[in-house]
Amino acid sequence: MPELPQSASGRTAAEVARACAREAGRIAMAAFGARQDVRVKGRGNFLTETDLAAERAVLEILRQEYPDHAVLAEETAGQAPRDGWLWVVDPLDGTHNFSRGIPYFATNIALCHDGEPLLGLTYAPATGEEFFAQRGAGLTVNGQPARVSTAERLADCVLGADLGYDDARAARMLELLAEVWPVQSVRVMGSAALGLAYAACGRYDLFLHHYLYPWDVAAGIVLVAEGGGAVRDRDGGPATIDSEGIVAGAPGAVEELLALARERPWRG
Ligand code: IPD
Ligand code: CA
Ligand code: CA
Repeated sequence: MPELPQSASGRTAAEVARACAREAGRIAMAAFGARQDVRVKGRGNFLTETDLAAERAVLEILRQEYPDHAVLAEETAGQAPRDGWLWVVDPLDGTHNFSRGIPYFATNIALCHDGEPLLGLTYAPATGEEFFAQRGAGLTVNGQPARVSTAERLADCVLGADLGYDDARAARMLELLAEVWPVQSVRVMGSAALGLAYAACGRYDLFLHHYLYPWDVAAGIVLVAEGGGAVRDRDGGPATIDSEGIVAGAPGAVEELLALARERPWRG
């Protein structure tokens, strides 16, 4: 595993990721609670000025600190190479929550090398929580070590799930949840980034989603792995930033969910 490079101003990658997240969070909190002008990308899929302003701020920091690194950020996403160093950024995950004054939203930042996320940071400014992990160094929540839950059976799980914006896939997710039910409980928080962060530190036993983008999952892959959890794609293989679906959390529960989901339409 390559060492994470220092930035142009001599900061560590963790310090730069943190600076990006704090700036995006400051921008989000300055607008949070006020009326938002919302652009509709699709049913339930919103874009606000804050998404754009937060992304601009993050990109500016990354360009100054790591001018040679590629960046894949949601609102300006193009074709970013997977080889070499790549920052993957969701400036505001949970925009629909944000636009309604619901405090479950986050900035997601990851640093990948040859497609593999090595550093992940999810920052929820409304609750002041930072979920952080670097490969080989463990998971922390606001600086305190944390781990996935010890749940071994689905029946003992609080499952986090989200429905995304693809109606047919969401319907198959609801069918799968109905089949899995009863479990301890199901949560649909509206931020996949926070869902993965919660699974990483054991608040959820497991988080699953049928269709996500690299900026939704790159940070969470590192968080859950460093929290001692399993992070798999919809077919049961190891999750990558390009996996469409994800099942992550306590290893035993992840295995049971994947076994149950085998041959189910959820996988399509
Ligand atoms: C969305 C949220 C949501 C998930 C969607 C994502 P956005 O991200 O994470 O929980 O269900 O699939 O696209 O649009 O708020 O950045
Ligand atoms: Ca977003
Ligand atoms: Ca997102």
